[in-house]
Amino acid sequence: MKIINFGSINIDHVYEVEHFVQPGETLNSESYTVFGGGKGANQSISLARAKAKVLHAGQVGEDGIWLKEKLQKSGVDTSLIKTVDTPTGHAVIQVNKDGENAIIIHGGANRTLSDDTIDEVLKSAQNQDFLLLQNETNAVESILLKSKDKNLTVIFNPAPLTDAIKNYPLELVDIFILNEIEAQTLTNENSTDAILHAMQKLYPKSRIILTLGKSGVIYADNTRQIKVPALKVKAIDTTGAGDTFIGYFLAELSRGSEIKKCLEMGVKASALCVTRKGAADSIPKLEEITAF
Ligand code: RIB
Repeated sequence: MKIINFGSINIDHVYEVEHFVQPGETLNSESYTVFGGGKGANQSISLARAKAKVLHAGQVGEDGIWLKEKLQKSGVDTSLIKTVDTPTGHAVIQVNKDGENAIIIHGGANRTLSDDTIDEVLKSAQNQDFLLLQNETNAVESILLKSKDKNLTVIFNPAPLTDAIKNYPLELVDIFILNEIEAQTLTNENSTDAILHAMQKLYPKSRIILTLGKSGVIYADNTRQIKVPALKVKAIDTTGAGDTFIGYFLAELSRGSEIKKCLEMGVKASALCVTRKGAADSIPKLEEITAF
């Protein structure tokens, strides 16, 4: 069984700032670094570092070949990553004194996926494989529809949340992994209980994992809820923490572990991730989690 991650690959331009730039303000940054990133690529690297079998499908431009190599070196199967004429997607990321971030993305090559490419990727999917999607590529709706008859476990991380998502065939999603802001927008509810109730009413067959930052994570399905608290660490840069959680959670799930263990692995991995700078580069290895 493998995990196919059909997702974005970005060049992250990261600026450390005193505070997030305000409307009309010009702000000096304290440092500037280029990192590998993209929610898709980060999640694939997290899966690979957690020792899951992951095949990343996506696109880069000529300027992003180093990212494909980075994924490969991390243990990701990159045979379905195409190099196309459009420049690689990128992100402009501000990181403030508290380690929080503010991110602008430009889709670039991530948003030029064709029908042929989608068909080719899905051809490599076998019964019971996991299919992981985020919302940084084009054609998410089409991938969901095309995956319907393949008997895959479909996991959707609706990030970034856009208005269009509400029209996707979300009833085809087996597992949602989303943060509070995404869930609030999707359900028009505010409290955690109301959000979970609304999600289960909207998607009764799906399992929901709601990440709550410093308050931990909640899993909910038709029969039960499981909450795991966050670990207390000094956050330097929270970029990629959600992606790290997803990779470790799914790697453990693909090994057939109990949900509580899967959540705990994700929580530990993301706690370590926020103590380091960058997205992909800050994702810990499995040995580090075991020692943590
Ligand atoms: O989740 C973090 C990621 O969001 C960054 O790496 C950036 O590329 C954006 O996609």
